[in-house]
Amino acid sequence: MKFKTTHYHFDLLKDEERISAFYEAIEDLSVNQELAYDLGCGSGILSFFLNSYFKEIIAIEQDVKASICAKKNLENFKNIKVINEDVFNYNFSKKSDLIVCEMLDTALIDEEEVPVLNHVRNYLKEDGRIIPQGIINIIELAHLERDYIHYDEDVSCEILSKPVIYDEINFLNEINPNFEKVITLKAKKDSSVNGLKITTVTKLNDNLVCGPTPMLNPPLLIPLNEKNVKCNDLINVKLKYIMGKGIGTIEANYY
Ligand SMILES: C[S@@+](CC[C@H](N)C(=O)[O-])C[C@H]1O[C@@H](n2cnc3c(N)ncnc32)[C@H](O)[C@@H]1O
Repeated sequence: MKFKTTHYHFDLLKDEERISAFYEAIEDLSVNQELAYDLGCGSGILSFFLNSYFKEIIAIEQDVKASICAKKNLENFKNIKVINEDVFNYNFSKKSDLIVCEMLDTALIDEEEVPVLNHVRNYLKEDGRIIPQGIINIIELAHLERDYIHYDEDVSCEILSKPVIYDEINFLNEINPNFEKVITLKAKKDSSVNGLKITTVTKLNDNLVCGPTPMLNPPLLIPLNEKNVKCNDLINVKLKYIMGKGIGTIEANYY
């Protein structure tokens, strides 16, 4: 089947690792379920995968062009309804068996995954599931080449500490978007630290994780003041941000 897409959604479709992770997670569902919401459906690819598992799928997309593509791509599936709407303006009325929401980005800071899930979780049945199920955030000390917050899309950075898992989020639970924590990192050599690297791993379900891929959560690099450290020094860093409010909310300092 040939999918109509926008340029952005085409790049998402080309990311085979991302697409196959979602495909595998959906393949694991039981058939004959009642209702699934596909939030931020884009070109409609995930609703296409969901089609044979649900009697009804409501796919919501705020981008006009993407929603036109999704309507066209899914027109032969009578159980799928594509709605061009902001999730926050949609009048949810029924509880679903599944919510699919791929509005992910590194540490969930820049996209709307957290506010959207906090908004719709009431419309999930008690035994309902969410795909993806959650994320794991990992942090490392680094030496960066740029002195502003940026995503690591082929820029080099030297890793200077052991990795630490600093946060795990289960999407089934209400999420506090205000993140603030002091994290201790252990230097792995004598070096000059000037930043942090955050990596987010996506948990599709209990058995399936997907690391950063070209279009899913590229590592985030955050500058710090330059600091000389010795091997095995313990460095405390205070990290603060608001999930869903953008990378402008990030504050990071030695503590
Ligand atoms: C990363 S894309 C995923 C698209 C598609 N689900 C896929 O996996 O290829 C996220 C989509 O969510 C949409 N989106 C973001 N915030 C939204 C909102 N508040 N309401 C509806 N759609 C939204 C974006 O326009 C974008 O198409």
